[in-house]
Amino acid sequence: MKKSITDIDRSWLSGRTVVVRVDFNVPLDEGRVADDHRLTASIPTLELLSGAGARVVLLSHLGRPDGEAVPEFSLAPVAERLAELLGGPVRFIPEQHDAANVAAEVAELVDGQVALLENTRYLPGETANDPGLAASWAGLGELFVNDAFGVAHRAHASTAGLAEAMMAKGGEAVAGLLMAKELRYLEDALKNPARPFTGILGGAKISGKIGVVSAMLGRVDQLLIGGAMANTFFLAMGFDTGSSLVEEDSVDLARSLMEQGGDRLVLPVDCLVTDEISDDAVPRTVARDGVSGDDKIVDIGPETRALFSEVIRASQTILWNGPMGIFELDPFAEGTVAIARAVADACDRGALGVIGGGDSGAAVDRAGVGDRVSHVSTGGGASIKLLAGASLPGLESLTDKV
Ligand code: 3PG
Repeated sequence: MKKSITDIDRSWLSGRTVVVRVDFNVPLDEGRVADDHRLTASIPTLELLSGAGARVVLLSHLGRPDGEAVPEFSLAPVAERLAELLGGPVRFIPEQHDAANVAAEVAELVDGQVALLENTRYLPGETANDPGLAASWAGLGELFVNDAFGVAHRAHASTAGLAEAMMAKGGEAVAGLLMAKELRYLEDALKNPARPFTGILGGAKISGKIGVVSAMLGRVDQLLIGGAMANTFFLAMGFDTGSSLVEEDSVDLARSLMEQGGDRLVLPVDCLVTDEISDDAVPRTVARDGVSGDDKIVDIGPETRALFSEVIRASQTILWNGPMGIFELDPFAEGTVAIARAVADACDRGALGVIGGGDSGAAVDRAGVGDRVSHVSTGGGASIKLLAGASLPGLESLTDKV
């Protein structure tokens, strides 16, 4: 069990400088934040700290600028949106390379003020987990709060490195409110689920999700598989998959997962196929053994939608990660939207429905049911790792609660 910000005495925070790692890796569109979920999710921690009179120094990455100051990955637009959400100014420090300058700007903060430093990944030492860089960030404050669940699976200088550096200088490294909430939902759902417990996995590749398929098969009552991932299982069953996306080198793996899962592993019985992937495509419905030639499988079919929805609606715990098809395009969105609605219906009746981040989070928004499900995670890769039973360096590095 790790310490969290709620274990720190509020009166201690007043006048202290607190370094907070957030995950503000958000999509930008023409210089504006296009999706601010990760920002709104961090507000409770920021309000707690600022309200207690702490001077708050925020660190985040944005995109993968590979150690270069690439202007399109600047956090400046994020600082603007964050200020709107907090209802007060956010001091943007457009600096990362000159540590003395950063320290001088941080020293000017007043109690309760919030500052955001430029993209941590402008420095090559970030992804290399450079101890010197971690120590220089730790030197900015007296407490480290890691609220960046979305990047907790990375051992970077501003995550695990910074926690270790803060502890090396006698300070503490604790989880923020968002980090704690994510763990509560994702871990609780796994540890002691009300049954029936249904897992839903989709997305393009099995290879990136082997660990999670196998770990979930050991816990769930049913595991529904959709998306292009299902195609590789179809190959393993000997079906023609036409021109669909498949992973031929994962066929043996698919076969062994089917053996492991038995009846608990449920695959689509029909699919939507098209020969062109475009906004105005008109897909056809075929049985899963009726795919051929130029057909590309782009969504689950109507019979599968009904089958999966029925299982989901009868469940007490649901964990979902990955879309059922290419839901970004209207003609191929129906399967994913149907799943989102079924999860929301189950939650309305008291089930716990937890949505892994990334695409499935976008899918529940698209279906307009984001506020009806129990929890939408801010972490795509991190939630996959956690569900697969892997440890998260950003979490493991924090101070133990004794
Ligand atoms: C994410 O969006 O999944 C996190 O911010 C991690 O980003 P990364 O995959 O570039 O490390």
